Amino acid sequence: MLHLHYTNLDSTNAAAKRLAAMNPGQMLLVSARTQTAGRGRLGRTWQSPAGGAWFSLATPAPENALVTQSAPLVVGAAVLETLQELLAAQTPNGTSAASPALSIKWPNDILLGNRKVCGILCERTLGAASADENRPSAALILGIGINANMSAVQLTDVRFPAVSLADVLGHPVELPRLIDACGRRIAAGMETLIANGLPCSVLKTIKRHLAWKGCRVRLAQGNREIDGIIMGIDALGRLMLRTYDGVEMCNAGEVTTVRPVAAPSEEPLAV
Ligand code: BTN
Repeated sequence: MLHLHYTNLDSTNAAAKRLAAMNPGQMLLVSARTQTAGRGRLGRTWQSPAGGAWFSLATPAPENALVTQSAPLVVGAAVLETLQELLAAQTPNGTSAASPALSIKWPNDILLGNRKVCGILCERTLGAASADENRPSAALILGIGINANMSAVQLTDVRFPAVSLADVLGHPVELPRLIDACGRRIAAGMETLIANGLPCSVLKTIKRHLAWKGCRVRLAQGNREIDGIIMGIDALGRLMLRTYDGVEMCNAGEVTTVRPVAAPSEEPLAV
């Protein structure tokens, strides 16, 4: 995997897309100290001051719906596991138990103590026809933003409370090492996904760390909002929401509101 680091870019996702078009079939890791036009999900902007880990992995990937849909889950699990190791290595007794808990706000935001520490934006480029089936020219661009060494109070444009690794650890982390470790783990996960489908280990990590399991939430899907209780995820990584109409498997969306489960005096949701 080729790693290209820049002092400043518009967006590592945009740069990775340009570079992937020039290097079809090659896995590329693109990182930047700052971004001037960092992109978030749903067309939002992503503030990217110095001190964050801003990077994108461009990975050749067949134009396959299952691969495209599962990639964000693979990335989320890989980053969570990397952060778990990092936090464990930085605490005196070698466990991450002393730090606030890491969890996944489905589909792939990573929370540290219920505050957002990492956002993930996965995009696809369409490939030109390729003579070699084993080297698809289509690529997935997997963009990761980790609030690492800046203080989260620097981030003014947040829709959800943010936190940084340095806020929690009390000291900065080594950014090149963090980016390299995440990049390697994501690359390995993507190779398995493309060869064999969604790895069980990814589902296991997400199930174990799913935020707000058993809580009543609102899921926004474009103009539609679904209210229900988070039951877990299914074998395809879809969010299982128990609503008044039964259990709904959700492919996409954003959890916007969280409430504790109904008190016994409240009317329970029908199953
Ligand atoms: C989100 O939570 O909305 C996703 C944020 C993704 C931000 C990262 S930073 C590196 C990469 N380059 C971008 O422009 N966006 C992603």
